[in-house]
Amino acid sequence: IREDPQGVSEYIAEYIVSRINTFSPTPEKPFVLGLPTGSSPEIIYRILVQRYKAGEISFRNVVTFNMDEYVGIPRDHPESYHSFMYKHFFSHVDILPANINILNGNAPDLAAEAANYEAKIARMGGIELFLGGVGPDGHIAFNEPGSSLASRTRVKTLAYDTIVANSRFFDGDVNKVPKKALTVGIQTIMDAREVVIVCTGSHKALALHHGLEGGVNHMWTLSALQLHPHPLIVADRDATMEL
Ligand code: GLP
Repeated sequence: IREDPQGVSEYIAEYIVSRINTFSPTPEKPFVLGLPTGSSPEIIYRILVQRYKAGEISFRNVVTFNMDEYVGIPRDHPESYHSFMYKHFFSHVDILPANINILNGNAPDLAAEAANYEAKIARMGGIELFLGGVGPDGHIAFNEPGSSLASRTRVKTLAYDTIVANSRFFDGDVNKVPKKALTVGIQTIMDAREVVIVCTGSHKALALHHGLEGGVNHMWTLSALQLHPHPLIVADRDATMEL
């Protein structure tokens, strides 16, 4: 628990820098990092870019897999997760374009896109560290309430609450928010060797309560992490209000 979003973000950014540097990745043995979008990780990316510019970390031998992407908006739409990642992170660091993996929400065959993504993660030897956020309804990636805890990358229809929450990025208009997304599954996240979750703000307090103190269940998919061997949840004071 840290005081505020800044403290949470600094803790997580330093943690990631130290994990990558300790791992000492090479082209033959890259560090495989799972990444989220959303407003919570924005400060983390800003700090990681600062650390890169200060020469404290390189992303040259880091391979990334993003968690999710909207279905049906162009890749260069300002609110696509592809655009988000380049704007906040990839354009500012030395990551190789070939090492960036983001689901293609416009793939002609979405099921094949999802299966190929899983296969590529497996080919890379699995994910070393998955950084994630959490939705107010307890979802991780776009694994909405009711998602199977055994799920893998697939298409999900977004919950109405998520559409409302994300409408702030689409002129406040729920009609402009995509209704579907491609997302890694709960089991994809559980397979990562380590999972780090950023959770800030009082609107996440209920999700943290159900995810940590409730039973493991598919209505608050964050709760699956209770079964993970190496989870780390970093929350600010506001998010811990219901604990
Ligand atoms: C979206 C993303 C999630 C993210 C969540 C919370 O639904 N698919 O991966 O965790 O938003 O976002 P925020 O950090 O903006 O609250």
